Amino acid sequence: MSAYDVIIIGAGPGGYVSAIRCAQLGLKTAVVEGRETLGGTCLNVGCIPSKALLHASHMLHETKHNFGEMGLEGETTFDWPKMLAYKDKTIGQNTGGVEFLFKKNKIDWLKGWATIPEAGKVKVGDEVHEAKHIVIASGSEPAPLKGVEVDEEVIVTSTGALELKEVPKRLAVIGAGVIGLELGSVYARLGSEVTVVEYLDHITPGLDAEVARNFQKLLTKQGLTFKLGAAVQKAEKGKGGVTLTFQNRKDESEESLEADVVLLATGRRPFYEGLGLDGLGVELTKRGQIATDAHYKTSVEGIYAIGDVREGPMLAHKAEDEGMAIAERLAGQAGHVNYDVIPGVIYTHPEVASVGKTEEQLKEEGRAYKVGKFPFMGNARAKAVFAAEGFVKLLADKETDRILGCHLIGPGAGDLIHEICVAMEFGAAAEDVARTCHAHPTFSEAVREAALACGDGAIHA
Ligand code: NAI
Repeated sequence: MSAYDVIIIGAGPGGYVSAIRCAQLGLKTAVVEGRETLGGTCLNVGCIPSKALLHASHMLHETKHNFGEMGLEGETTFDWPKMLAYKDKTIGQNTGGVEFLFKKNKIDWLKGWATIPEAGKVKVGDEVHEAKHIVIASGSEPAPLKGVEVDEEVIVTSTGALELKEVPKRLAVIGAGVIGLELGSVYARLGSEVTVVEYLDHITPGLDAEVARNFQKLLTKQGLTFKLGAAVQKAEKGKGGVTLTFQNRKDESEESLEADVVLLATGRRPFYEGLGLDGLGVELTKRGQIATDAHYKTSVEGIYAIGDVREGPMLAHKAEDEGMAIAERLAGQAGHVNYDVIPGVIYTHPEVASVGKTEEQLKEEGRAYKVGKFPFMGNARAKAVFAAEGFVKLLADKETDRILGCHLIGPGAGDLIHEICVAMEFGAAAEDVARTCHAHPTFSEAVREAALACGDGAIHA
């Protein structure tokens, strides 16, 4: 038996970041992780491998669509097993990096799956370890859908979609959320006929509606087909592939389509199986998340929860920030997360990014706001690199000019958004961004132009 100040359950972005911060603040820390490698869903079967495949498939797209115009000639083909090997190498570099950081910070990795027999104790295999504080950071898993039985070969979740034996001729995606559109894009660029079936009458729920509409148009131009307002009922495996049946919500008519592979991407649910929460009396919310107070305390003294298992967006960076905040709290500091400034990014091409309120939310709140918009068509750098699709939309308070939100679709959107995150964190006005000198020629100028458009007007539009 060994005794720790903190034992963290789960080595995903929430858990491993929390462990590093705990160790930096002088707490004796261990992390329980049952996977072969550290990094959780994000590094092993989520964010990181999907970004490798998005990058590779985007490069292929560029060779096919824009290389010729630049005088770069010759046909580029691709080798799927090699592309998967590149993806696996990327995973290895990152999971290995976390292992290195554990050693550097003297964090113990307790290999295995944890149970919590009682507060203050964590059991891994046959060993029981003592901990003053236990932080549950066990993440999430794909939510099942009635009538769709996942085998991770032909009916897959994101995990199986990153490991397909071959590129399917026809891919059906259930759900036009982040996973469906990122992975749908990958396979569309690699030559699959991709059909996305979505329950709602628009894609990407929660996104600013104008951005969502433009995003759908761009994806359609890239070859994705959308069936909106369609509730999937079942997926049946046959000799020639899978038959996906859905009901059109408008007239309740039934329709089906044939696919070689079906990707189920209808959301994720908190994962805490096997921890023994029932016996401990840890309370759950109505939605099955671990209930916590604002400082991540569960209903049981000494047990905390962060990341996907508790409320809030299921995003790696939200989990990371909660991981740092709980570490600071356990070390006697005032850890805190600003939930009003958590960016969201979809890593398609172009990328989509947002932070703060959407226009729909502001309308609902009855708030007086102004909109500053700037199209990437007016950005010299974007035009030079075949990336002039999309726009920046900045929302600011009509009276005070304070930035309330930003929604953008365009080149490097996932990086550009952070200028606005910092501005919002400092309570900046659109004019503060507009008066900040931005280097030319950069994509960032489009953000400044949107800020100028909140005032006397953009220059290049
Ligand atoms: P999601 O919640 O983003 O989207 C699921 C979609 O499925 C919704 O549009 C929903 O209306 C639709 N749907 C539900 N039931 C349906 C049915 N029966 N028939 C047709 N459509 C149906 O979930 P997703 O894409 O699976 O992602 C899960 C989580 O992982 C999300 O919280 C997401 O934020 C996170 N994630 C984030 C990424 C990023 O930040 N880039 C990348 C991948 C995942």
